[in-house]
Amino acid sequence: MGESAKVEIGGKGTDYAVRSGTVGPDVIDIRKLYANTGAFTFDPGFTSTASCESEITYIDGDQGILLHRGYPIDQLAEHSSFMEVSYLLLNGELPSKSELETFTHTISRHTMVHEQLTTFYRGFRRDAHPMAIMCGVVGALSAFYHDSTDIADPHQRMVASHRLIAKMPTIAAMAYKYSIGQPFLYPRNDLSYTGNFLRMTFGVPAEEYVVDPVIEDAMDKIFILHADHEQNASTSTVRLAGSSGANPFACIAAGIACLWGPAHGGANEAALNMLREIGTPDRIPEYIARAKNKDDPFRLMGFGHRVYKNFDPRAKVLSKAASDVLDRLGISDPVLDTARELERIALSDPYFIDKKLYPNVDFYSGVILSAIGFPTTMFTVLFALARTVGWVAQWNEMISDPEQKIGRPRQLYTGAAQRDYVAVDKR
Ligand code: CMC
Repeated sequence: MGESAKVEIGGKGTDYAVRSGTVGPDVIDIRKLYANTGAFTFDPGFTSTASCESEITYIDGDQGILLHRGYPIDQLAEHSSFMEVSYLLLNGELPSKSELETFTHTISRHTMVHEQLTTFYRGFRRDAHPMAIMCGVVGALSAFYHDSTDIADPHQRMVASHRLIAKMPTIAAMAYKYSIGQPFLYPRNDLSYTGNFLRMTFGVPAEEYVVDPVIEDAMDKIFILHADHEQNASTSTVRLAGSSGANPFACIAAGIACLWGPAHGGANEAALNMLREIGTPDRIPEYIARAKNKDDPFRLMGFGHRVYKNFDPRAKVLSKAASDVLDRLGISDPVLDTARELERIALSDPYFIDKKLYPNVDFYSGVILSAIGFPTTMFTVLFALARTVGWVAQWNEMISDPEQKIGRPRQLYTGAAQRDYVAVDKR
């Protein structure tokens, strides 16, 4: 582009290169700003800051566009599979038939976890939140798989990535089984990635579990829709943790911890709890009024997004999938009626229109997951399972970047200036 931006401080101006991506806003490369001027930029919450260069995912929040390696999310959700999308995110291109077979086979050969890992579960209370278990158990993987923690070795990085993608369904299903006191089920590699997960979650050793193709398909779609989302909070956490050279299992555990928060992945659990609390459409105005009241911390969960200021394209796919799944399973859930009515009322209210608040991915996913039979506490676990591929793809990209540096933000210090220590009897 050849353009530059001038920053002038104290009458002294310096030019900074303006860089253009393939699509999307330009960025001003201010890496030399501090060296040139002695000043930092101030952007808590990163609303105007690109933290890295990436080729994986692109979001246009104003147009409601989400692309993985250039492919629109609605096309991937409609035509692809979670295994194929995982390959795409990790490797940059859609796989050929044989590449997909090899990849699927490789993942299926890593689904078991070290037998000793099962003893970790027994250390948790039965009523532990499964996300607490996920943080602990995934972090503990680094104590078991020493042969894939050398991050300087691209082969070991790929093995760790495959292990994480493959073991997450096993670890997630075990967290669920532990909470309800049922025996753990070993993976079955003749099933699909998603079918295997459903069996490990809802099957019992006493009888054969038959995977319902309707549920398998809906679940696979949900995994695709959650697979990656650019530099969101948990992905940035994984990158930041990884920038210090921490091992991949520790980095993904950090991502899981960040995802748990209700402003991020925890919103799917919060959204369904909110819809159940509202209960019937006649109580919606009361909740809309609360959401608009500045003195009330209440927010409509599943509404709003930092980047999407138009419809979240993932919510569009899930809104339709929610009706399909409930219809095909023959379930009539009043929560779906409440969700549809809440969406209708909110989207015609000037408060939500002016602030560009639309339903996000979490608004409808809970309705589907609940129809499938998951308790709300498992919702964020499923998000973590699917997002693992995005996390490892972004982590690999960061480590392979020759310009990669430890992530070390600065601050605007507003505390006390230097002062002398005062002995306790003189204070
Ligand atoms: N209900 C009511 N008002 C809202 C909501 C909401 N859900 N979201 C934002 N607002 C208002 C907010 O009060 C603020 O108003 P004002 O300008 O008068 O102060 C304005 O809209 C902008 O909000 P913000 O908090 O400055 O926006 P943000 O970009 O920092 O936050 C968000 C984005 C997703 C954290 C926020 O919209 C939110 O808390 N939503 C509910 C939680 C949720 O559904 N999160 C899932 C996000 S998608 C999946 C994921 O990332 O994991």
